[in-house]
Amino acid sequence: MSWVSDYKYTWLQTLAMNVIKHGYRLPRHIAFVMDGNRRYANSQHIRKIEGHSKGFDKLADCLRWCLDIGIREVTTFAFSIENFKRSEEEVTGLLDLAREKFSKLLLEGPKLKEHGVRIRVIGNISLLPDDLQKLISQTMLETETNDKLFLNVAFSYTSRDEITHSIEEILRHGDGMHEDDISERLMDECLYSRHSPPPDLLFRTSGETRISDFLMWQLSSTVLYFTKILWPEITIWNFLAGIFTYQRDSLHMSSFKTQERLKRAAVSRNSNFYAEHVQNFLHRLDIYRRDILLKWSYL
Ligand code: FPP
Ligand code: MG
Repeated sequence: MSWVSDYKYTWLQTLAMNVIKHGYRLPRHIAFVMDGNRRYANSQHIRKIEGHSKGFDKLADCLRWCLDIGIREVTTFAFSIENFKRSEEEVTGLLDLAREKFSKLLLEGPKLKEHGVRIRVIGNISLLPDDLQKLISQTMLETETNDKLFLNVAFSYTSRDEITHSIEEILRHGDGMHEDDISERLMDECLYSRHSPPPDLLFRTSGETRISDFLMWQLSSTVLYFTKILWPEITIWNFLAGIFTYQRDSLHMSSFKTQERLKRAAVSRNSNFYAEHVQNFLHRLDIYRRDILLKWSYL
């Protein structure tokens, strides 16, 4: 299965997509916790890894729905640092699945270009085997000029690790910085998710109503949508129900909150909000990150 599926809509689904698409504001950014793959595998008497593989197929459907309805950004939780504690067989299976899918992605360059899908992997990549780090770097470079839909794959990720890493980056590269320079915005810039606006909607399957160390910094004003369906069984109707919930809840959001969000989005790194030495720090950090990406892609 390719990263963006060739999903065929029934006329009723097309109608429903259009109603939601032209209804009250769409989420710009959706985060998915794809939970329930193993329970699905158990219920179908198949191996766990087949459940995860079916889960990937559903991600490809979801990306198609997001593209067609006009969602700009998707972040999906594909592998938590906590998942390293699972059985060796399952961890190896998940890493092999990622190898297969990222290798396939490199062959799918033209299709992703046509759809304008840019992939970013967010997480502590250094915990992954070297060959996977290389594949991930190549994938990110391959799609870096695409700009219609941003897909952030959280792989080897937890929020607590992301926040810790952000502070480490400031300490390691922030010569000349002092305590007044530390701000929420600077933290935003140092997170793995720095290129993305905060998610408008978090969508979690399988009936679990936890955040599970996913985007905890970023979810402060996100609408949460939980559904009992297991991820590999998700349908377009569940997807649309999530978006409808966001639209309904957004209507009730106070205008104060909305204004705060717009203000946050409007303040860019290039505004004169930052002192010069902080801007220099961010610039150095960008160069450092790019060097790492290039190093891994050529190794
Ligand atoms: C949670 O279900 C799902 C995962 C830990 C893995 C999700 C990964 C994929 C769908 C494949 C994505 C791959 C790429 C390369 C993007 P669970 O294992 O916790 O199932 P359970 O809740 O029923 O135990
Ligand atoms: Mg689970």
